[in-house]
Amino acid sequence: MKILITGGAGFIGSHLISLFVSKYQQHQIFNLDALTYAGNLENLKDVEGELNYSFILGDIIDQGFINALFKKHQFDAVIHLAAESHVDRSIKDPLAFARTNILGTLNLLNAAREFWNDDLKDKLFYHVSTDEVYGTLGETGLFTETTAYDPNSPYSASKASSDHFVRAYGETYGLPYVISNCSNNYGPNQFPEKLIPLFINNIINNKPLPVYGDGNYTRDWLYVIDHARAIDLVFHKGKTKDTYNIGGFNEWKNIDLVTLLCQQMDEKLARPKGSSEKLITYVKDRPGHDLRYAIDASKIKKELGWEPSVTFEEGLSKTIDWYLENTEWLEHVTSGAYQEYYKKQYL
Ligand code: NAD
Ligand code: TYD
Repeated sequence: MKILITGGAGFIGSHLISLFVSKYQQHQIFNLDALTYAGNLENLKDVEGELNYSFILGDIIDQGFINALFKKHQFDAVIHLAAESHVDRSIKDPLAFARTNILGTLNLLNAAREFWNDDLKDKLFYHVSTDEVYGTLGETGLFTETTAYDPNSPYSASKASSDHFVRAYGETYGLPYVISNCSNNYGPNQFPEKLIPLFINNIINNKPLPVYGDGNYTRDWLYVIDHARAIDLVFHKGKTKDTYNIGGFNEWKNIDLVTLLCQQMDEKLARPKGSSEKLITYVKDRPGHDLRYAIDASKIKKELGWEPSVTFEEGLSKTIDWYLENTEWLEHVTSGAYQEYYKKQYL
């Protein structure tokens, strides 16, 4: 099989590529990535010399380029992760999210439709999406696969739109697809703009920890390798034209998560207890901030036998260890443009 994975130089994509390249030596894995600020080939050092792996630099916004790529390589399947992925950036520049997340997805769908048209057998368009398309929950309840879409941020609206297009291409043109909607991921290789790696980096550098609003927002957290395992299962065993919710059965209020992170960091950095917590600073809330996300992942558990493999405490500890061991990676990604972003967002 020739599998095109988009966004493979990013956080989740890099873990998925590593898993697929090592596990499926008989498959040819192509990684298409535009290497935006979030894409980093340092994330793929373990696979770069492998015979069943190729990197392609390119932008999914470019329909001509995408068509030529399908023609040249005759992909059998697509696993689509390339996206603009950070809510705060989507608030500042919604159009960039419409371009990559909506138009880019449409371009891939068009290419798949055109090149697979005569032979859809054993073809698959796998669209990787987020639980944020469901909007926000109150204090109780869980998102299931049938929860109505109700996105609140430009990011989630663009992902919701792309999900709808994927489903529409399935219904209208018979394109075989599968979608998964996952909760918040954490782990190695995550760009330090998202909560956990941002706060790890700030603690290392004794910088304030900017908690939005009162910190009582809730997210369901999943270790990134468990997400990659879930994608593998859905790709190989999931029903086509279906959706799977993926989650960690692991809800945390932001402030409780940050407190746990601070405690683990103090221990690992051999700093006096309470030093990291002193860095917590409550800042202006994010506009349209969703109160709570929580996933009911019972379908993927029941149908495909998937479950998270690590507890949150273990996953968080492994994640911190990775960032402490990879200071060079952190230095590379936090130089240059990152400083500008940080100033605009927080200072
Ligand atoms: P990321 O921001 O770390 O990586 C995105 C990758 O896409 C980068 O390598 C970037 O260079 C590439 N990219 C961006 N625009 C592109 C374009 N126009 N053409 C080609 N490549 C482009 O994102 P992530 O956190 O790894 O998320 C991957 C996917 O999973 C996204 O679709 C996201 O919506 C979804 N998702 C993420 C989470 C999460 O918690 N991070 C949770 C659920 C779903
Ligand atoms: P984030 O990692 O951006 O993921 P998402 O918004 O997609 O869930 O944020 C996770 C939670 O942490 C969210 O409720 C917003 C909050 N947050 C802060 O309090 N401060 C920050 O600096 C960031 C980046 C996030």
